[in-house]
Amino acid sequence: MLDRGEIVDLLADYPKPPIVASVGSHSALDIADGAVTEGFRTLVLAQAGREATYAQYYRTRRDATGRAIRGCVDEVWTYPRFADLAKFATQERLRSVGALLVPNRALSSYVPLDTIESEFRVPLVGSRSLLRIEERTERENYYTLLEAAGIPTPTKIPDPRSIDGLAIVKLPHAQKRLERGFFTVASSAEYERKSRFLLDQGTIRAEDLATARIERYVIGPVFNFNFFFSPLFPRAEGLELLGVDERRESSLDGLVRLPAAQQLELEQAGRVPEYTVVGHGTLTVRESILEDVFRLGEKFVHASQGRYPPGILGPFCLQTCLDKDGRPTVFDVAARIGGGTNIHLGLGHPYGNALWREPMSSGRRLAREIRLAMDDGRLAEIVT
Ligand SMILES: Nc1ncnc2c1ncn2[C@@H]1O[C@H](COP(=O)(O)OP(=O)(O)O)[C@@H](O)[C@H]1O
Ligand SMILES: [Mg+2]
Repeated sequence: MLDRGEIVDLLADYPKPPIVASVGSHSALDIADGAVTEGFRTLVLAQAGREATYAQYYRTRRDATGRAIRGCVDEVWTYPRFADLAKFATQERLRSVGALLVPNRALSSYVPLDTIESEFRVPLVGSRSLLRIEERTERENYYTLLEAAGIPTPTKIPDPRSIDGLAIVKLPHAQKRLERGFFTVASSAEYERKSRFLLDQGTIRAEDLATARIERYVIGPVFNFNFFFSPLFPRAEGLELLGVDERRESSLDGLVRLPAAQQLELEQAGRVPEYTVVGHGTLTVRESILEDVFRLGEKFVHASQGRYPPGILGPFCLQTCLDKDGRPTVFDVAARIGGGTNIHLGLGHPYGNALWREPMSSGRRLAREIRLAMDDGRLAEIVT
């Protein structure tokens, strides 16, 4: 892990004001939109051929005073491959323009974690050491952190032979490596049958299946809680809930929109849903559940500070299912801005707005944090 002091030292030579940067995919638009609203210029690092959203459709136009009158992306740098953005020359260029990079899932998916942790000398607004916990195959991952925090997670099923109720098997898709090859099973016999079918069909790989996480399927709606933790405020005000999203997942959401009779008429392959995220919706949670949700967030903050100092900084997302009694179980964690925060874009979110008394999205909150830290000379406290 790069020494935090080394990263903080980089800030001394940074041009002022800094430019807010992100990797062009995932939640880059929310980050850019929020940054422009807070008065920053923005940079998106995109893959060549995938830049039109940023370089064309959301390109910023500013008036003579510098006020944005259209769009939210000031600069776009493109690379043949996303991984190229970690090259030393690019790092140098990022530092020379004063880039504060907001880590999103696109960054940690496309740039190897080893590189981000040990070679990528660009200040990240967030928690560098926590990015790795998302990898389920790591020995120390979000499950170990959640358990240490005392946060309920779906029961792990250590061996496919002990499946005795509805379970979900989590592994990558065979061809679309960054997507999911998840499937559900209710017994070990069904596991054998279904995994064989998916292997034969080329949807999953045997080596992934061998290390797949199998866990109890929690029946209940999904709520992804988009939190923010600020070290700049007194601890009692440090944790904020900004918004709640849910995902639309390809074929799964298509299947549930079909009446049962039509589902049963589908051919075998069409009946197994895929879980590729293709969109998001917004939710609020029953008010009496809210305190439980904050309690989970507080536990996560506390455990992350104990195990991965300085702990979580900025946005994070706890992905939960609420069971029949309304109790949240956390099945996934994003220790950085979540994938569904574009639902806040521009409008903010009921929870964020209620707190900040103005439209407050995750992206805007991030930019506000940078601004507050700069004004107080505390930028060192929010980067790693
Ligand atoms: N234990 C579980 N019980 C019920 N549904 C689950 C469970 N784990 C995951 N899911 C469903 O699968 C989706 C993806 O799971 P997740 O663990 O978030 O994968 P990823 O790491 O790819 O985001 C979730 O949005 C949810 O709908
Ligand atoms: Mg997830």
